[in-house]
Amino acid sequence: YVIGVDLGTSAVKVSAMDKAGQVVAQQSYDYPLSQPQPGYSEQNPQDWLYATTIALDRLILKDGLAKEDLAGISFSGQMHGLVLLDENNQVLRPAILWNDTRTTKQCEEITAQMGDRFVELTGNRPLEGFTLPKLLWVKENEPEIWAQAKTFLLPKDYVRFCMTGEMGMDYSDATGTVLLDIQAGQWSQEIAETFGIPMSMCPPLLKSIDQTGTISPAYATFSGLSTATKVFAGGGDNACGAVGAGILQPNMVMSSIGTSGVVLKYEERADVNYHGQIQYECHAIPDTYYSMGVTLAAGHSLNWFKHQFASEEAFDEMVEKASQRPLGANGLLFTPYVVGERTPYADADIRGSFIGVDSMQTKADFTRAVMEGITFSFRDILNIYDQNGQAFDTVVAIGGGAKSDFWLQMQADIFNKKVVALTNEQGPGLGAAMIAAVGLGWFDSLQACAQAFVHFGQTYQPEPANVARYNELYQIYHQVYAQTKGLT
Ligand code: XUL
Repeated sequence: YVIGVDLGTSAVKVSAMDKAGQVVAQQSYDYPLSQPQPGYSEQNPQDWLYATTIALDRLILKDGLAKEDLAGISFSGQMHGLVLLDENNQVLRPAILWNDTRTTKQCEEITAQMGDRFVELTGNRPLEGFTLPKLLWVKENEPEIWAQAKTFLLPKDYVRFCMTGEMGMDYSDATGTVLLDIQAGQWSQEIAETFGIPMSMCPPLLKSIDQTGTISPAYATFSGLSTATKVFAGGGDNACGAVGAGILQPNMVMSSIGTSGVVLKYEERADVNYHGQIQYECHAIPDTYYSMGVTLAAGHSLNWFKHQFASEEAFDEMVEKASQRPLGANGLLFTPYVVGERTPYADADIRGSFIGVDSMQTKADFTRAVMEGITFSFRDILNIYDQNGQAFDTVVAIGGGAKSDFWLQMQADIFNKKVVALTNEQGPGLGAAMIAAVGLGWFDSLQACAQAFVHFGQTYQPEPANVARYNELYQIYHQVYAQTKGLT
């Protein structure tokens, strides 16, 4: 069997899968998130290592798997988080995570110094979450730590280093540092020199399916795993989520509703340039890419609403009641900017709204409006593809939006695309396990592995009458951002 390690923001989840793509066993273990100041978000890299070790230990001991049968391990990781190591490979400070927003000033400096050239090189405009602005923040604000810094890694790369003694970073995560020249497939000397980052700090680059050694003797003693187990580089969580959803060929698009929401599209070329309107990253398949837009508060908007106004109802009950209300929620419109918005606005200050409130409306109308507003925000991302002449007709839905027929049909109607769900959705851990399976040679390619591991279920067809009505509402939705910008 193989294990996919999904190193998330609140917990690590480990999944053991057999050659037929069946989940053999799963375990998870939480770790804390520290927010020492507003906008700060940090974790202790040792917590990731201990949590991963405990989860693996439970998987093997409690679920009775033989450690000798563990052929390979790979990783999906929360992206962008900065782990700084000194010359003895000791961690210098808590990791600064993807959702830490202290780096607005550094992002502005990057834009001021490099402008469009930065977007051209990296495929991205600088955002607070990315790694380069975090490096610059440490350089400016903690010079004594910066002076000792020898290498930087991303979260899963640190855990893999502790397990194998080998250092490296795969391309899918490396693009998220915005220090990678995406077309050359190399660390960008131009960016590093412009901002005074020594090239020697950048770790060796790897393909996701590259083997990065085996379990080291030291980690074998610590964890009880076998030194015969092979370890593979893995990828960032969005790349691995896409692998696990079968987004492995041209024209495939995924919509994922988690706390945040993601619309992600497979891309064949390094030089498609959306001018920084959406993120552009290397995929887990060598020499392929994906583009991605993010709704900051997708599931988070619905959770917030439920917690404040419908806490007595079960989630399914709340959604079921909303499904009984008419399309358009009796004239109520919601924008999901409750913590700001990334795509298409990159605006941390905008806030959400309910518009068209009528004393005849019920709580279920409000729930429906929240779900429609989240889905309209995905349509905003899909519009960027339309504007750039990128045509496709099917969207694979995963996460919260794939849990009810109602939301799947709503996505088909609002996107005016076919929407398909998976029958065995497992998240990014499945993608990580698939990377290990391909790395081991069980399959020739991730696409071949997907034939065995990824199963598509029902297709939801857009219904023309609903499409027409949602189109009208979307035109109004789209105007709300500009009209409410001055509120905060
Ligand atoms: C992607 C991003 C998040 C993290 C979550 O740019 O910031 O999706 O990868 O782990």
